[in-house]
Amino acid sequence: GPDPVARIEALIRDVPDWPKPGVVFKDITPLLADAEGFRLAVDQITALAPTPIDIVVGMEARGFLFAAPVALSLGAGFVPVRKPGKLPSASIEESFALEYGHATLAMHTDALWPGARVLVVDDILATGGTVGATASLIKRQGAELVHVAVLMELGFLNGREALAQTGIDAVSAVVTV
Ligand code: PRP
Ligand code: MG
Repeated sequence: GPDPVARIEALIRDVPDWPKPGVVFKDITPLLADAEGFRLAVDQITALAPTPIDIVVGMEARGFLFAAPVALSLGAGFVPVRKPGKLPSASIEESFALEYGHATLAMHTDALWPGARVLVVDDILATGGTVGATASLIKRQGAELVHVAVLMELGFLNGREALAQTGIDAVSAVVTV
């Protein structure tokens, strides 16, 4: 059939000047709404993962949309990383810098275990802040971050280079723009 990566890329919509002037937002909702495209996206992300994987970690909110079906495809469990104040049980938090201010992500302390083989899945790798904080949460629990697989990488933001400087170099993307 036609190139699956080209099909996926065609279903990600550019929205100029959103959420602010000068930014071109990558809108994945047309991809999610297309049955064939969504299936192709999940299959392509799954194919980036080394095996075996024990747990797929996905980040609220858009990461959940891909990480949970990838976990099912791999026969792995799913663990959520959430924004603060959402997890009901004992949790650890990690903060990271944004252009202005900072953001925080959280994970349950009993979500992982020493030596667990973990795959991180998100929709978009931009500056790498979200993946970097997630990697810290995983490592603080003694688990092994085996790979980071994203649907789309915004190469011009150099997230991959930022992550490599913190020792995270097993990163791949279905689509790089
Ligand atoms: C977006 C996107 C990634 C992150 C990438 O999430 O879904 O998780 O930004 O950016 P970074 O590499 O610079 O960290 P966002 O924080 O906007 O929240 P959402 O997933 O809840 O929409
Ligand atoms: Mg996100």
